[in-house]
This record gives sequence, structure tokens and C-alpha cells, in this order.
Amino acid sequence: MTARAESLKERVLQGPRPAHVGIIMDGNGRWAESKGLPRLEGHREGAESVRAITTAAREVGIQALTLYAFSTQNWGRPRGEVLGLMDLLRTFLLQEKRTLLENDIRLCAIGETHRLPRRVRKALEEVEEASAGGRSMTLTLALSYGGQEEIVCAARELARRAKEGELDPEAIDVATFQGALWSGSLPPLDLCIRTSGENRVSNFLLWHMAYAEIVVAKELWPDFREEAFFAALLEYRQRERRFGLTSAQIRERSR
Ligand code: IPE
Ligand code: IPE
Ligand code: MG
Repeated sequence: MTARAESLKERVLQGPRPAHVGIIMDGNGRWAESKGLPRLEGHREGAESVRAITTAAREVGIQALTLYAFSTQNWGRPRGEVLGLMDLLRTFLLQEKRTLLENDIRLCAIGETHRLPRRVRKALEEVEEASAGGRSMTLTLALSYGGQEEIVCAARELARRAKEGELDPEAIDVATFQGALWSGSLPPLDLCIRTSGENRVSNFLLWHMAYAEIVVAKELWPDFREEAFFAALLEYRQRERRFGLTSAQIRERSR
């Protein structure tokens, strides 16, 4: 870690931190193209950022880290890129298993994971099972994930339960609906970081986006390391989260 990253980390540790951070890891392709490399090299370097940020998040006591690794819409990319990403994902899971266990981190996945190739599913299941007891941090990979798809799936599940007489439609509230989501057991999303300077959410955690603070970082994902991550956590600390109330009410409550 750079000296500047160390000093930012100290500052992060001195004050409140978000409990749940989500990251839209964007810019791998542009990183590679800017260096005249194939896009897959960008994804490979991006995997190094995943390692660095997972460790950094745990070290500053983030309870839940959710990483957008592959969207439902990403299936539409050229076949070679999709296959390359799947291979990288499998390698990453098998290589990281030990580090996750040593650091008491639990790995979970959300999304249409049945669409992943069998070899990836197997690696995923192996790491999920082995790390199920991890208590220091929950690392959730959004894989073959789409926020709209997640909401539709929850609606379908609730409709099915209502049709079978197990659920009164009038009793459906925010908590019931959230419970039917893939991401239903995650804590509220406090901070959503998107790298590569793009100002959009691209179908990530739509439900949880309700009151998330959004920080857009200019770095492309392969360049997004500890320094940029801690800077985003410090920017989050400057925000006043009002949840629909007035500033005066919020100040009164925090006294
Ligand atoms: C993010 O980087 C990784 C995935 C979406 C899988 P991109 O591959 O989207 O990189 P850019 O946005 O084209 O630079
Ligand atoms: C979002 O990035 C998906 C992931 C980071 C996995 P994209 O590159 O797919 O998003 P768009 O196409 O720029 O909106
Ligand atoms: Mg992109």
C-alpha cells in the first residue's frame, strides 16, 4: 500500500464507516484498450483490484461488500469475452478460497447463477460452502445479476405464494417484498461506488439503491486500489443522509 493510502486508512479508521458498500466495477475494457491490450487483460488486472479492495474493506471493518462482477446484460457481449470472464472468475474463486477462509470472510453470490457454466458453479458452491461460517465480512458477488430481473423474480415468488393461499396480498409490505429478493438478507446499502466516471447504476441493486449514497470515482477499475477506496469512504463521511427528513431533524437525532 502507498504511504498516502496508509494515511487515508488511518483517517477512515478514526470515524464512522458505511456498513454495506456496493461497487460497480467498471472500466476494465477501456483500461486495456488504452494500453493497446486485449480487453481480457483489463479483466485480469481488474481481478487484482478485487483482491486489494476486499482486503482493504475487511481491514477497515466494512461488514458487507457487494461487487457487481457480471450483469444479466453482459451475457450479450462477444462470446470470447464472456468465456474469458468465466475462466477468470473460476480461477479467482479457487485462488481466493484460502485467503477468504484465513480472513474469516463469507462469500455469497446473487443473481441467475444457474446460467453460469457448470465449472464456475462448482467453484462457487465450493467456496460458498467452505466460507459459510465467515463472520468478519460478507463478500457478495453479483453474478449474472440484474436489479430488474431480481425484482421481477421476487414479484413472481410472492404472486405464487398468494395464488396458493400462503400469503395475503394486502399483507405485502416493504419488508415482505425485500425478503423475497436475492439480496433480501443484505443490510441497507449505505454507499455505492462506481468507477470509470460513469454516472449510472446499470441495473445494480435497484431496490437497495433507495437511500444509498453514490460516489463516482474517475479511476478505471484496474486502477482503483486502496487509496481511491479509502478516499471514497471519506467522501461518504462528508454526506448528510436525510432519508426524506430535514437537516435540522437529522442534527437533532444525532445529538
Ligand atoms: C467492467 O468493465 C467489467 C464487466 C462489466 C464485466 P467493462 O468490461 O465494462 O469495461 P469498459 O466499461 O468497457 O471499459
Ligand atoms: C456494469 O457495467 C456491470 C458490471 C460492472 C458488472 P457495464 O459496463 O456492463 O455497464 P454499462 O453498459 O456501461 O451501463
Ligand atoms: Mg463497462
